[in-house]
Amino acid sequence: MSASNSKSVRFSVAPGGRLQGRLRVPGDKSISHRSIMLGSLAGGETRVSGFLEGEDSLATLDAFKAMGVRIEGPENGHVHIQGVGLYGLQAPPRPLDLGNSGTSMRLMAGLLAGQAFNVTLTGDASLSGRPMKRVVEPLTRMGAHIGTTDRGTAPLAIQGGAPLTGIDYDMPVASAQVKSSVLLAGLYASGTTCVTEPAPTRDHTERMLDGMGYPVQRAGNKVCLEGGHTLRGITIDVPADISSAAFFLVGASIASASDLVLEHVGMNPTRTGVIDILKQMGASIEIENRREVGGEPVADLHVRAAPLHGIEISPELVPLAIDEFPVLFVAAACAKGRTVLTGAEELRVKESDRIQVMADGLVALGIEATPTPDGMIIEGGSIIAGSVDSHGDHRIAMAFAMAALRAQGTIEISDCANVNTSFPGFVELASQSGLRINGI
Ligand code: S3P
Repeated sequence: MSASNSKSVRFSVAPGGRLQGRLRVPGDKSISHRSIMLGSLAGGETRVSGFLEGEDSLATLDAFKAMGVRIEGPENGHVHIQGVGLYGLQAPPRPLDLGNSGTSMRLMAGLLAGQAFNVTLTGDASLSGRPMKRVVEPLTRMGAHIGTTDRGTAPLAIQGGAPLTGIDYDMPVASAQVKSSVLLAGLYASGTTCVTEPAPTRDHTERMLDGMGYPVQRAGNKVCLEGGHTLRGITIDVPADISSAAFFLVGASIASASDLVLEHVGMNPTRTGVIDILKQMGASIEIENRREVGGEPVADLHVRAAPLHGIEISPELVPLAIDEFPVLFVAAACAKGRTVLTGAEELRVKESDRIQVMADGLVALGIEATPTPDGMIIEGGSIIAGSVDSHGDHRIAMAFAMAALRAQGTIEISDCANVNTSFPGFVELASQSGLRINGI
């Protein structure tokens, strides 16, 4: 499967079944990206295990190789990076193609704004339609020169050699990508760079900087760092991605007699909104064997089938579950009563418009789903057989695959190749645990 033949990959998922056993989903995408970026900028070697060998994190890895960093692997999730230091990157011979990966583009825009060389960042059709002004605007205030299209989208043409100055940025959207982009530029800025977020967002950048010995000050919703310090190479054990585990948390909750353990799942409190939301809906999820690996909390999640009921999802939980709404909408479709989501307009600018695309798919499967500007209203009901279009969005394809566990007939899902961006081996792992899925 590759992005180039994305339209031709389909999932056909037969109805029924239950999810059972123990499994470990692939490594966390956010932490995998950051391990390559910060490992490259560190002095000395960074050794990564559990690295996500998906197209998104591989796009980051290839980009840093193209900028002269010696990176071995990935091999069975192991990557060795010979860090070149903050000023050791070299001009890449061509534009860096970041595929479908918003995290690569937004974080690298900040990091590359501080280099001495020019570089252009490009992406696929989905990434080329996503808003980049949200990073270009604060980076420009710091002194960066970044060209976009008239619509504020990629390609991003970053001019090197611009001296950066720290800013105190009041971030208008709750976005870890924007926060991280500004902080990465701050490594190269004179003075102090601060970001204040309107609500807590994932803090993997701050944790990894701290783990690599870079001083970061955090107080409440504000994070600050000073330019001019150095990073040292470390060992990073990437936990399993809670965003990938989420498909199985929902699948096992909605399919009767399911009993599943998800191993070594990242439990960073800025990522666990999906567990809170599912528990409020009545899910049975036990958190076992809590531990810490390399500055990130991890646990095994034991999930059993349980009757779900609709809820009003608290808007404060939205940034803490931002990538899990496609599959949470499937949980809502299988729940008794009404689920209402508000405060989630960000879903409209993800890999697809996740509010519209999920509403269209749910309606095609016989569910009453009403999109609103910033969320959705879903009446729990019976899922019928049908065809849905994932619009090349990995999380939508996997969410509808799980819906088949409760469907009356086969669900056909089109445009699924991008599942490889975040969850290589999804079809195999899901079918081993009981989903009746075929990738065609
Ligand atoms: C990510 C942050 C989130 C999330 C994305 C990964 C990150 O995006 O949706 O999948 O690694 O920082 P936003 O920060 O734009 O919400």
